[in-house]
Amino acid sequence: MTSKAKRIVLITCAVIAFVSFSGWSQQSKITPAQARLGERLFRDVRFSAPQGDLPAKCADCHLFDEDPQGLRPFADFFNRSWISYRPQSPQRFELRNSPGLFDVARQPRLHYDGEFTTLEDLVTGTFTGRPMGWLPNEQEQALTQLQTVVRQDPAYRAQFKTAYGIELDKLNRSEVAHHVARAVADFMRTLNSKMTSPYDQFVQINGLATKPDRNESPTMFAQRLLTRVSELEATKTLKLPNGFTATALQGMKLFYSAGNCVTCHAPPLFTDFSYHNLGISQVEYDQVFGAGAFASLTIPSASETQRPAERFRQFPTSGKPGAVDLGHWNFIDLPTSPLRRVNESDDQLLARMVGAVKTPGLRHLAYTYPYMHNGAYTTLEDTVKELQRLSEMARAGQVRAADQELLKIRIDEQEISLFVAFLNTLNENLKARSGVQNP
Ligand code: HEC
Ligand code: HEC
Repeated sequence: MTSKAKRIVLITCAVIAFVSFSGWSQQSKITPAQARLGERLFRDVRFSAPQGDLPAKCADCHLFDEDPQGLRPFADFFNRSWISYRPQSPQRFELRNSPGLFDVARQPRLHYDGEFTTLEDLVTGTFTGRPMGWLPNEQEQALTQLQTVVRQDPAYRAQFKTAYGIELDKLNRSEVAHHVARAVADFMRTLNSKMTSPYDQFVQINGLATKPDRNESPTMFAQRLLTRVSELEATKTLKLPNGFTATALQGMKLFYSAGNCVTCHAPPLFTDFSYHNLGISQVEYDQVFGAGAFASLTIPSASETQRPAERFRQFPTSGKPGAVDLGHWNFIDLPTSPLRRVNESDDQLLARMVGAVKTPGLRHLAYTYPYMHNGAYTTLEDTVKELQRLSEMARAGQVRAADQELLKIRIDEQEISLFVAFLNTLNENLKARSGVQNP
């Protein structure tokens, strides 16, 4: 090797080492004192609007082990989360299913519609917004209340000092909000899957790849994995750990091939972090207004309306024709979105985002029922059955703005239980979560 080539190799290694080290330290530099403070704020009811009918805290809709119905990865048990009632609020029609919060720090954008780009923005937006019962014009009051509560609490003053070296008394209102948001975001950064599910053990004991290589598409990864699995089967050396049955293995093969699931649900978290329309909002709208109603709904073009648009963030109700949840349509940033295809106009791109929502990860599904952004599907069987039905409708041209990948989902009726068996191998022991159980 020439000395120039050596230098390049050395520099590259240094850069890789630095990047991976800083990625790692981002996760692990959160101290127990910081996580404890964040979790305390997460469980404090004093930040919600006094005008609402009940006090609210993050942990009301993001439960762990406090509910007698059982464990949750920080989700609740409702189809749509309850929010504090304000009669004059249009936001009471904007409810969705509460997602679990494991691995949430790895998501580039948050909420089903991609409303927030950082955890800190989400926390501030939530403490001053609809989940806490505040109306859009009450931001100032919400921020003042946040500041007053934490500054007047001696334990918070001490905790902020220990955890972040901050004197709350010396901060103005927006600085207090900033540090509160940081603490709650840091708490959420400690909520990571352990990757100890039966599927992870199956991958590990058979020496399989855990995720696509750089520049490898999810489908190419899936082919590579399935090829290796058949080689091991041919030599009778494929091992099935506890909890990963022969049925689950059949389901995995379908998930990685004919089901086309892997295209959007790519390991290790079983999401592509992108937005797709499977027709869930259409189904719900047509249930209220009749078949074909969603197809004939007038949806404004890029220049015709302000987005986000109130009526396109709401769930359908009989008295309100035209109100429906269009998901990422509301928040896509047309000039910068990476979703734009070559030569695609603003209107073409926007039309493709009708009803598109963020692909949820598929870990811990045993603990997050009901499913989909509207919580309309109680079991995994119902959910996979609906994917089968919608893929057929999409191929018949009956799903408005259907994602192209939906058309490629092929599921036979008798295979549904196999998909479900595979999805059930992605649950792990939630009690073993890291970080916050340190005293
Ligand atoms: C009234 C119930 C409720 C409360 C209170 C609540 N949330 Fe949520 N949370 C939800 C729902 C529902 C969603 C999904 C919202 C959406 O997609 O529009 C959500 C989404 C989130 C997400 C994004 C997850 C993802 O995968 O995109 C995070 C993070 C989050 N909440 C954290 C918090 C924090 C922190 C608080 C307190 C400051 C809080 N939530 C309070 C119900 C609630
Ligand atoms: C085109 C991309 C795409 C494909 C292909 C796809 N999904 Fe999804 N999946 C999504 C999106 C987006 C959602 C959320 C839809 C919603 O809430 O409206 C979702 C939701 C789900 C859910 C519910 C998760 C939850 O937490 O509510 C399950 C389970 C699921 N998919 C399994 C599968 C399986 C199994 C396959 C293959 C048969 C598959 N998906 C194929 C994008 C996709």
